[in-house]
Order: sequence, then C-alpha cells, then structure tokens
Amino acid sequence: MKVLVVGGGGREHALVWKISQSPRVEKVYCAPGNGGIGETAELVPIAPEEIERLAEFAAKEKIDLTVVGPELPLTLGIADLFRERGLRLFGPDREAARLEGSKAFAKEILKENRIPTASFATFSDSAAAKKFLHELKPPCVVKADGLAAGKGVIICTNREEAERAIEDCLVRKVFGDAGQKVVIEEFLSGEEASFMVLTDGENVVPLASSQDHKRVYDGDQGPNTGGMGAYSPAPVVTPEIHRRILSEVLEPLLRGLARRGVCYRGALYVGLMITEEGPKVLEFNARFGDPECQAVVIRLKSDLVPLLEATIERRLSRAEAEWRPEPSVCVVLSAQGYPGSYEKGKEIYGLERLRDWEKGVVFHAGTAKKAGRYVTSGGRVLGVTALGGNFHQAVREAYRAIEGISWEGMHYRSDIARRALDRERGGRPKA
Ligand code: AMP
Ligand code: GLY
Repeated sequence: MKVLVVGGGGREHALVWKISQSPRVEKVYCAPGNGGIGETAELVPIAPEEIERLAEFAAKEKIDLTVVGPELPLTLGIADLFRERGLRLFGPDREAARLEGSKAFAKEILKENRIPTASFATFSDSAAAKKFLHELKPPCVVKADGLAAGKGVIICTNREEAERAIEDCLVRKVFGDAGQKVVIEEFLSGEEASFMVLTDGENVVPLASSQDHKRVYDGDQGPNTGGMGAYSPAPVVTPEIHRRILSEVLEPLLRGLARRGVCYRGALYVGLMITEEGPKVLEFNARFGDPECQAVVIRLKSDLVPLLEATIERRLSRAEAEWRPEPSVCVVLSAQGYPGSYEKGKEIYGLERLRDWEKGVVFHAGTAKKAGRYVTSGGRVLGVTALGGNFHQAVREAYRAIEGISWEGMHYRSDIARRALDRERGGRPKA
C-alpha cells in the first residue's frame, strides 16, 4: 500500500521510519517532510495546513492511508474532508480535535465527566477574570484558549503576574484569536507524564508511557519549548497509575464524548500531573507528542500500520501493541536562540557516521538537504534517540552519538531523563 505522512518534524520522521518497515507498505510519501525524511520517503511540497491540496494529492496518487502528524490540519478538519472524499486518514475529525484546539472545551468535558484536573474557570472579560483571582491562592496558571504554539500557558506566582497575563491575552491580544478566552486554573504540583493511546472512540490501546522536557535549559530553566527531549517509559507511571489513567481519565472521557455524539478516532495524548492524590489532566493533544513519539515509536515491536488501520476501522478491541523492554531516550538538538528567533541554513556535520548506528536513530526535525549536505531549517533540528539495557546506558549512547554531531550554535540539554536516572540509582527524583 501507499502511505502519506503529513508534517515535517521529528515526530513525522519517526512515523515514516516505522511505517516504512511494514511489510504491507510499498511506498511512503511525506508532505512536506524534511532533509532526513527524504532518505526514506518521497517528499511532497505541500504544507500541512493546505488540506484541500493534500486531499487532491491523495486522490490522484491513490494513497491508501494518510497519517497526520501536527494539530493544525486536524483542527482545520482534514479528517472530515478526507472522509467526504472517501479517502482513508488516521487522525480525529474537527470536532474531536477541539480537545486540543480549545482548552475551554477540554476543561468543560473534563468537568462534565468528573475527570481529575485542576479546578478552573473560563473568561472572555478581563474584569471578571481578575475578580476571580481573589478566589485563588497563588500560584495559578493562565492559559489562552486556542492554539498558541506552546506559548499560551503562563504560570503566575502572584496576583500581579496573573493580572498581566490576563491583560496580555484578553486586552493586548498577544496570542491573537487564540486568546479570545482564558482559562485560569489552580497550580498542580507533582511529576508530569505523557500518556498516549490509540483509540477508535470506544476501545483504547495504550502506547508506552513517556516524559517530556519542556524548558530550554538544564534543570528545567528558561522558557517553554515544544520539547527538548523525552524518554520512555516514565517510571512515575507505575502499573497502579497506568490503571488509574485508564479508568479515571480515558474511560469517562470516551463515554462523555460519545454522549455528545463525538467519536474520537486517532492518537490521543494526555498530558498529566501525577499528584499526591493521583493523576490529574493538564492537557489533551489530538495527535502524537513530539518528541515523545520518537522515544515511544523506537520501542514499538509491533507493526504500526495494522494498528493505525484498526483505529480507523474501529477494530481496536482486538488489537495490542508489543514493546521492547529496553528504555529509550531522545535528546533534541536545537538551533541557537530557539524557542525565540534563530538562524537557518547552518551546515550540520557528523551525520554520516551515524547512518548505521546500532544503538538508535537520529530523527531529523528542522533539516533540509542542499547540494548533498544537511543544513538546519528549523528550531528543533535533530532528535538523537537511543535504546539501552537501562536508562543509564540509553542516556550514555545518546550523548556519545551527540559528541560527533555539530553545527554553529548547536544547543541541547545535558540532563534528559534525569528523573528516570535518579530513580534507577535508587533515589527519589529531585523536583
Ligand atoms: P499545557 O499546554 O496546558 O500542558 O501547559 C504546558 C505546561 O505548563 C505543562 O506541561 C505544565 O508544565 C505547565 N502547566 C500547565 N497547567 C498547569 C497546572 N495547572 N499546574 C502546574 N503546571 C501546569
Ligand atoms: N511534547 C509535547 C507536545 O507534543 O505537545
């Protein structure tokens, strides 16, 4: 069969890498892809948000399965459009993707179904929002309702900061349309985990758990990014927590969505805070996480393609995913300046030696190929992803591989998987 992957980051490279290993797949296309993806898939110069052009391409090339990576085409309704045209696509429809597209909608669903989450209120009027601050004990969290490229969440340590965040959103409109509403919520403490599942609206196949590192610098300092690294599994997700996530979050969520007539089919990402009281939902994403996808997919033993097909065809009750027991670590190498502005077009050295790397895969995110050489073309550039007999070995393999890679301004965190390493050494992870 012919498969089209939509997107061009590290997540999509991991998906292309895995899908191309399926015996059922003859050819993989990727729109728009990146320098590294171009080694395995035929690149198609269509942006993920050009959903009409993607549908035309899929029809013309007789694509058997389209797999969507990023959220934007999903919230624009790419799944609805493909369905209307009789084209098979993996990803939730527009209504279901609102779980990510609108934080106010997600919180409403959580509350309606009594799913554990931070207490909250939603406002479109800044005076009312500020008044609500009197009812909260700081710190609190102010969130722009819509998609804001990971920048719309502001953790406020005192009331002045919260008032400023509310004004930024509702009055100064720094997040544009995404900030027409704000969600103000209680600050939760604990350890974060990412829990992704495949769901057909009724049944759930959990993927291996993982943990992301959102801040740009070591020790969780500096601004939030799309993610500077990930590892899998997340030891904080014990078998007991795993069971509770399924019974306290996913089961009531899917039942609640079904009652509203919403059938969620695709990858669903639950961002959680594991608190002393148990797991609480921070956010939903209507897609695989990036870089969690890289850390999880490298551990997947099963063929991914039948799992994606079973999701679309609502046959997940009989499906199961098999995992390699070895943990994985993905370290993101980023451009100087990211998540702020950064330069592009820097030549990347040292990738040839890692072509046949036995311990892992270098997934490309922001790279392009120019005259046979790789150059940087984005903020997150590479995701060096390794497996090991334990976390210590996986971390050592990843950082050893990184020693051979360079470009002008390359940046990475040196403490990816720190909490898992602390636990492996027998200690309690430092906050
Ligand atoms: P979100 O996009 O909603 O997941 O928020 C991005 C990040 O902000 C999360 O990964 C957390 O690190 C942090 N965050 C969001 N909401 C809360 C909360 N209620 N309490 C503590 N941290 C939060
Ligand atoms: N790494 C978090 C996300 O994909 O949103």
